[in-house]
Parts: sequence; structure tokens; C-alpha cells
Amino acid sequence: MAVVDTLTQLVQQAVDAAGWELIVPPVQASKSADHGDYQSNCAFRLSKVARDKPLAIAETLAASLPQHPAISRVEVAAPGFLNLSLDTAWLGAALADQLNEPRLGVAERQGLVVIDYSSPNVAKRMHVGHLRSTVIGAALDRMARFAGHEVVADNHIGDWGTQFGKLIVAWDLWLDPAAFDEDAVGELERIYVKFSQEADGALEDRAREETAKLQEGDPRNRELWQRFLDASLAEYDKLYGRLGISFEVVYGESFYNAMLKPLVQELIDSGVAEESRGAIVIPFDKSDGKGLAETPMLIQKADGASLYGTTDLATVRYRLDTWQPTKIIYVTDTRQQHHFRQLFAACKKLGWVDEGVLEHVWFGLLSLPGGAMSSRKGNVIRLQDVLDESVSRARAVVDEKSSMLPDEERAAIAEAVGVAAVRYADLSQNPQSNVVFEWEKMLALDGNTAVFLMYSLARTCSIQARGGLPQELAPFTPEHPVERELTGALLRFPDAFDLALATNKPSVLCEYLFSLSKTFNHFYFELKVLDSTGNDRNTRTNLVEATRRVLHQGVTLLGITPLERM
Ligand code: ARG
Repeated sequence: MAVVDTLTQLVQQAVDAAGWELIVPPVQASKSADHGDYQSNCAFRLSKVARDKPLAIAETLAASLPQHPAISRVEVAAPGFLNLSLDTAWLGAALADQLNEPRLGVAERQGLVVIDYSSPNVAKRMHVGHLRSTVIGAALDRMARFAGHEVVADNHIGDWGTQFGKLIVAWDLWLDPAAFDEDAVGELERIYVKFSQEADGALEDRAREETAKLQEGDPRNRELWQRFLDASLAEYDKLYGRLGISFEVVYGESFYNAMLKPLVQELIDSGVAEESRGAIVIPFDKSDGKGLAETPMLIQKADGASLYGTTDLATVRYRLDTWQPTKIIYVTDTRQQHHFRQLFAACKKLGWVDEGVLEHVWFGLLSLPGGAMSSRKGNVIRLQDVLDESVSRARAVVDEKSSMLPDEERAAIAEAVGVAAVRYADLSQNPQSNVVFEWEKMLALDGNTAVFLMYSLARTCSIQARGGLPQELAPFTPEHPVERELTGALLRFPDAFDLALATNKPSVLCEYLFSLSKTFNHFYFELKVLDSTGNDRNTRTNLVEATRRVLHQGVTLLGITPLERM
């Protein structure tokens, strides 16, 4: 059991013994050593129920707290905190136990989770929103698997709709075959933009015809569509390969096309959808959720065409039927919040899902640095360019700092570091805030960066390489305050992980790993490890091995390649 849970349970027992009714909130790690290792603030909550001063309540709790080998001292601090100090030997034994488990103390989760992420649109370059969805989604995916969930990663690509009729017209009029061979998606995007610039009534009509033909299965249009799709997937796959991402399924919007008409009919029959001026909508009222009553969800236009939301309804239905997930998580930028609120409310109305099954993880905007990218307009960028730029900057640093390593290894390190830097710059921020990429910051050797975490990990590996670390962790006694601090930090891994998982925020994990790395470096510069003896050596080698395991697992969860030396 994680330390927080053990301690919280003890406080709960004290509260129950005193006859008060309260579900005790989890104890918190103390901010400073003179407040013990953990603190409970439940006396403040109890003071209302018990009609007494928090200080008096805390004293009662301290007196009725059960004896436990974990706790060496209980103190009450004004105005009502309960401070718990942990027994040194227990700490070392608990950490060894926790980190000898394959999940490093994280409780095993059950159930299948579908994660819908990346989801770019065919024949268009991914925009930075897709980068964030890809990077955040991949981290959530790894976290869920690590916790024991079965995961279906589904790349819900935009591969259907009226843009294909336009593309087909544009293809016939303006395609430059050489440019298509060179950069297929770039060329498709160019002719698509040209279509929007040139479009007049006649062109629009032609495009509508081509879309209709495609939907009826016209062989030539189907073949062109397949070409657009293949070219786009090939381009995306390059990026996914580089980021170490794979999906269980890539069911694009087209996959659901045949399900839409019958679904709309079913929704009408069930009374959830209704006709409104020739179109079909799902109306909402106040009880369906905030801000939903004003606009109904449009699921079929007056001309019979289906919409993005119609496909999403069919997608939910299909996923529920096929995988019986306990959760479906969507990762997109903030602009789709309203869409998902409508979708989730509709699914609830239909009785398809219980509260909490559908989750939208939305994120803010990301701006890229100027220079290499500024010649491209808007936020349409080639992600490969961003990664290349980052890798080449990383290469310069690696060449300077690690000139003794062979050229090939330096190239591999630069690739790992450059890609990790981009990923981490994104992941380490609260997803919901806007992010600006700044190369100097992203690639800094210290600070909250991927490189700093990777260096810290490599430091532990270099001690391991000298044959100095235990294979299995053994109980140890962290007597020195710096050892104790590191032990405490390592014990908090499951707590940080649980919070990151529950809130869908990889940034919580980043923050934890950053703080752990700082604590470890402090330990490393302060104390001798391999040159120490007796209890010191046992404690320190175990602590380095423990740190190695947590950092290795932690960066892997974020999608960063763990390097043994750099
Ligand atoms: N293709 C969409 C876009 O680029 C994102 C799809 C998100 N997933 C979903 N099921 N709607 O905006």
C-alpha cells in the first residue's frame, strides 16, 4: 500500500475511534522537515462537526492514533495540524518493498480504456493542435497501460466529408505530379488551398458532384480517395515511428459512414432527435448541462448530409458495443469543448453511458518559436521540421559535452534528446494553459526539461555500470537527512502517478520527476555512494537503484527514450 494510504487509514481509525463522522482526506507530504514527514489537516474539517477548536481535536486524534511501525512520532502543531514522522527503518523497508513490485507501488486498475488521440485530417498537414493531442494522448495511453488498464488507442482520422470532392476537382485542375511525389501531403494541401481561393459557384457544384460520386462508390473517386488516404497515413506514420507511437486501430470517420443513416433514424424513433426546419437535431434543456439549452446538436442537415457529431455518435456506439470500455477519453484542443459537451449529453440522454465514462481532455494552444518555422504561415507546420530543428540543436550540445562518445552514439543521443525536448516542453505544462516553445529553455541542461531528467537517469546508470547497485532492492536505513529526503521523494511516486492519471495531466508526473531529479542530484553531490561503507553504502546504493527505477519508468511513461549514458 502507498504510504499516503497507510497513514490516511491510521488517521481515519483515530477519527472513527473518537466517534466523529468524516471521510479523512489524504495526508499531505510536509513542506519542511520540522513538520514531520506527513501532515493531516482533518482537525480543521472536524472542528465544525465536533464544535471544538482544531487544536483540541488534533490532540484527541494524536492520543487515539493506533500504534504502527511506520510512525515514530506524532506531534500536534498550532493551529491544528497533526504531524507524523516516519520511522527510519520502516521507510527504507517500505521503499524496497514498493519498488520491487513491477508497478512500483501503483495500485492495479481494471477495465478497458479507449483513447482517441492524434486524429489528424487526411490530405492536410497536422497542425500544432494535433501535435499536442499526439503527445498528450500517447502519455495518457502509456500511463493507463502501466496502471493495468487494457487500452485501445484509436486514431480517429478525418478521412471523410465534403473536402474530398473539392480535392478531386483540384487534383484534376492543378496537380503537380512531381510535387506530389516529393511531398504528397504538402501538394494536396496546396491544391486544396487553391480550390478555396478560386472557388466559385461552378467549382462548388462540381465539388459537390464529386463528393456525391465518391459516396456512391464511383471507382475512380474511390481510388483517388484511397490515394489521398495512403499518402497521408504514410506521412503520419513517419512521425508516429519517430515518437514511438502505435495505435490499436485507425478507424477514421469513413469507417462509420454506413452506420449514420440508420442511427439517425433510430434516434428519431427513440424520441431523442427531432425534425427542425428540414434538419434533424437533438435538442437539450437546462437539465442536460450548462450552456447546452441554447443550441441543439445538429445531426443531419436539411440536404440529408451528416455531420462531424453524427459520426461521433456512431463512434461512441461502436466503441461501447465492441470493447465495453469503462472509459473513453478524447484528446483535442480547447475549441472542441462545446462539441464534446453536446456529444456526451446526447449519449447520456440516450442511456448509452453512465456519468464519467466519457471524458474530454482538452488543451490550450501552443506556439512555436520563430526562425525555422516562421516562413510557414499560420500554425500549420511540419512537425518533422520541428523535431529536426530540435535534434540538430541537441546534436550541437551533445558534440560539445560528450565528444568522447562515438559519432553514431552521439547521433542517437541527439535524436532521443531532441525529440524528448519537444515532447517534454509540451507535457510539462498544465495541458490547459497555452504553451510557447523556446529552444533555449527546452534544451537547457538544468531546469524542468527532458534533458535534465535524462541526465539524472544517466547518472544513476553510470553507477550501475560500475557494478555498484543491487539487483533487488533490500531494506535500508536512511539516517542522513539527505538520504531521508530522497527516500520520502521516491515513496511518493505512486501518489504523483495516481494524481496524474486521475486528472489526465502528465504535467503532474513531470513535476514530480523534476522534483525527484533535483532531490537526487542534491544527494549525489552531497554524499559518497560507492566510496562509502557499511550501512551508508547499503542505504545509498539502494537509493540510487530506487531512483534509477523510478526515473526510468517515469520518463518511459512520458514517451522519452531512457538513455544509459549521454
Ligand atoms: N479530426 C479532428 C480534428 O482534426 C479531431 C477528431 C477528434 N476525435 C473525435 N472523435 N472527434 O479536429
